Amino acid sequence: MEQFEAFLAAHLPSAASFHPHYETSLHQMLLGGGKRFRPALLLGVVQAYNTLLVPSAYHAALAIELLHTYSLIHDDLPAMDNADLRRGMPTLHKMYNEVSAILAGDALNTYAFEVLSNAPFSDKVIVKLVRSLAHNGGVEGMVLGQAIDCHFENQRLELEQVKMLHIHKTGKLIAASLQMGAYIVGRDDLAQQLYDFGIDLGLLFQIQDDILDVTQDETQAGKTTNNDEAKNSFVTLLGYERAMDEANALAEKVTRQMMSFDENLQRELSPTLTQYINRHKD
Ligand code: IPE
Ligand code: IPE
Ligand code: MG
Ligand code: MG
Ligand code: MG
Repeated sequence: MEQFEAFLAAHLPSAASFHPHYETSLHQMLLGGGKRFRPALLLGVVQAYNTLLVPSAYHAALAIELLHTYSLIHDDLPAMDNADLRRGMPTLHKMYNEVSAILAGDALNTYAFEVLSNAPFSDKVIVKLVRSLAHNGGVEGMVLGQAIDCHFENQRLELEQVKMLHIHKTGKLIAASLQMGAYIVGRDDLAQQLYDFGIDLGLLFQIQDDILDVTQDETQAGKTTNNDEAKNSFVTLLGYERAMDEANALAEKVTRQMMSFDENLQRELSPTLTQYINRHKD
């Protein structure tokens, strides 16, 4: 992942102009760290099946991180979650203003596809990657999840509806990360299985995030917490104990699924997965 960080630093969006903070505002949240969970998943799949393709895959891993980072910048806006802290720093609308945050999100979203289009893969593979990222990040993916999340604030959803919400806002991009890894190494036969696994993993990741919202303070989380009271979070809906039960059950399921992967894939994904699969217990 160190090399991925170097790649990211070398491929920051550049836009020299007389605007006093436009370019820096695009860099801020990318350089703020973050777990790089989605890039690690994509690169893990590539590493499992074709080590030689890993450097090329940094383009795709960066594209996902760019789209994810845009989603966080917009998620924090006053119109959405109204959060002041992200990745250990003031959110962009706090540091600058709302216009700068909206536009930084827009820029990172489109730059994701520019980076992907420049990846050193065949046109055919690039089109598959673009389709996966666009589909899972956009209309029927993360954006739909965010729309439901915000529309139904202060309005209680059914458990199945909250699962659907979480799968869209978080699961789909995590599933796409694994699927894109499979496309890069030409293992289209594994793409669906990895995608389905990613949906479960993503649901788990978001349930954990809901739990950490009530168990971590903002210093620990590096972002605004205790912010989900009006939300259809697992904790709001089920309470802490039952949310923990759901997370534990899903963590077991995800572990079982991982054990069914072939040796190479298990070896490459398990460091990332074991780091996060029980994070709700931290
Ligand atoms: C935060 O994502 C939003 C969710 C989808 C839960 P991450 O927890 O991956 O945030 P970073 O990338 O580490 O900052
Ligand atoms: C946001 O979920 C998921 C995104 C698509 C950005 P949250 O609103 O729970 O994420 P955090 O807790 O602010 O990181
Ligand atoms: Mg949100
Ligand atoms: Mg939020
Ligand atoms: Mg959250």
